[in-house]
Formats: sequence, structure tokens, C-alpha cells
Amino acid sequence: MQTIEVVVDALARQGNNNLSLTLVSADGSTLPAWQAGAHIDLHLAAGLIRQYSLTGDPQQRDSWLLCVKREEASRGGSRLVHEKLRPGQRLTASLPRSLFALRPARHTVLIAGGIGITPLLAMAEQLDASGQSFELHYYVRQRGDIAFRHRWQQGFRHGSVKLWCGCEGHSPRRALPPALQHPDGQRLYLCGPQGLMAHVQQQALHHGWSPEQVHSEAFAAVTALDGQDAGEGFTLILQASGRSFYVPPEKTIAVVLLENDIAIPLSCEMGICGACLTPVVSGLADHRDTVQSVAEKTCTSQQIALCCSRSRTSQLVIDL
Ligand code: FES
Repeated sequence: MQTIEVVVDALARQGNNNLSLTLVSADGSTLPAWQAGAHIDLHLAAGLIRQYSLTGDPQQRDSWLLCVKREEASRGGSRLVHEKLRPGQRLTASLPRSLFALRPARHTVLIAGGIGITPLLAMAEQLDASGQSFELHYYVRQRGDIAFRHRWQQGFRHGSVKLWCGCEGHSPRRALPPALQHPDGQRLYLCGPQGLMAHVQQQALHHGWSPEQVHSEAFAAVTALDGQDAGEGFTLILQASGRSFYVPPEKTIAVVLLENDIAIPLSCEMGICGACLTPVVSGLADHRDTVQSVAEKTCTSQQIALCCSRSRTSQLVIDL
């Protein structure tokens, strides 16, 4: 995977527990272009690679902006960013990868929870720059949690922003945007905690939205097999070579393939980045990733995340 060297140009507090990072290229050149919803892999230390959504204005090519929440249950990435990263530090980054891109719509509804605001702020900037109608709803626990406060105060020309504070009685369970009741011609993008996304998705489907109109991205990983029933073992068949492997309940497909010296692209290993998505030829995938939409997980030609998903059938043939 192609990478570039970047330098931490600035760090700034963005409300309680959030830190924004401004990255510039180490050689002073213009950074690769990206679309709203894209993310990069950031190599924070040896063996510590984390995925972060790019935020801010996608037209800004001199720097990239990220925002990282301090996670109490950090597996290392969030803690390192908050406690160790300093301006001037060099890091390696992947090129932007786009798995959560905007699609044409008469009107776009963006709903963010907490740090899930990062890709949706970029979407708001992109929609505003191209004169497309949108509304952005940003759910936080309390007003002190709001990131990019100055940006919201400026407002947008073609869209509106509404802040919802849980401590003022405006949690997603109590108050949802009225636009959810009118799906015609709209698209809905969600990013935030699993609970928020599941609730909004359920409400949207209840109000007549089709799964194809609803797009979501989780910022918190689902742990691959932890806490989930791994189910039965199954046989994995690689279409190109015809080789087959038994995937036991305690191992992922990715682990079995790597143990057999079969190279596969891996990045997050948590089902959130899409690097390992591979087409399914036959069999029924048991999807456990959060990178694909409901529509993608139920369409006729499916892909499977090798790092975390499994099989519902005793045999699964993949295009590898
Ligand atoms: S490696 Fe990221 S989804 Fe599998």
C-alpha cells in the first residue's frame, strides 16, 4: 500500500476530550486529493496503525485535518495521539481511501454522534461548495463536547446545522430530525456510536427510507470475534487455485490465510476500513464488519471482510 510522509503541523483542543491534528506533507508538496468521507491509515508507532476520517474542507490541499477522541478503553492509538504526539513529529500515512462517499440526492441529511462528526463535517463542506442542499445534525452529550465550534458558528450557504445536546433532553432516542419522516429524493449519512446508528437506521426504515438511501460508517470498531458468537467452523475455498482451508471458530479467515502464506491486504483488522473486502463467489457470508452498508451486505454480489466476517454455510467460495 502506497504511503507518504507527513508532519504534525498543529494540535488543537476541540471540545472535551477531542484533539484535532493538522498534517502537512513532509516535503512541502501538495497532499493527495480526497473526497468527503475518506479516511487514512496513520502509522503512529511500530505496529500501531489507526484509521481516521479526514475532516474539514476537501478542497484544502495544503494540509489534512483529523480529529481524535480520547478513548478510555484505548487500544493505544487514541492515548498515543493525546499524550505523546507533538507538533513537528513525522508520521507515515496511507493515501486517502474512500468507502463512505456522497452520492447524488435532491437533499442530503447528515446525522453525527460525538466524534462521528469528522466525516460528516467534510461532507457538509463538500455539499456546500457544490451548492447542494443539506442539513447536518450533530448529537453531543453536552455543549462542552462540541468539536469545531467556530465552524458551526460561521454557518453554511446551502445547508443548515442543528446541535442536539443529550443533557438538554435532546438525545437521539427522544428527538430525531423531522427530515427522517420524508425520505423522497433524500439520502441519509450516519456516523457515530453503534447504538445511535442502529436507532436512526431503524427509524428511517420505519418511515419508508430504503436501505439504499441510508449510508453509515462506524468510528468504533466491532471487535472481530470478541463478544460475538463465532459459530461453527467452515470450509473456505479459493476460487483461483481451488485450495480449501478449514476456518475453526477461534480463528478468522484472515488468520487462516496468513498461516498458509496467502497474502491478503489487511489494515484495521477490525472490519472498519474495507482493505480486506473480497468478493464472495458462493455460500452465505456472515457479515461482521461495519464498513459495508446494509444494502451492500444483502445485495446479490457481495464482498466479505476477511478480517472479521464468517460463513453461514458450511462452504464459502471467495474470489481469491
Ligand atoms: S482489514 Fe479493515 S476491514 Fe478488514
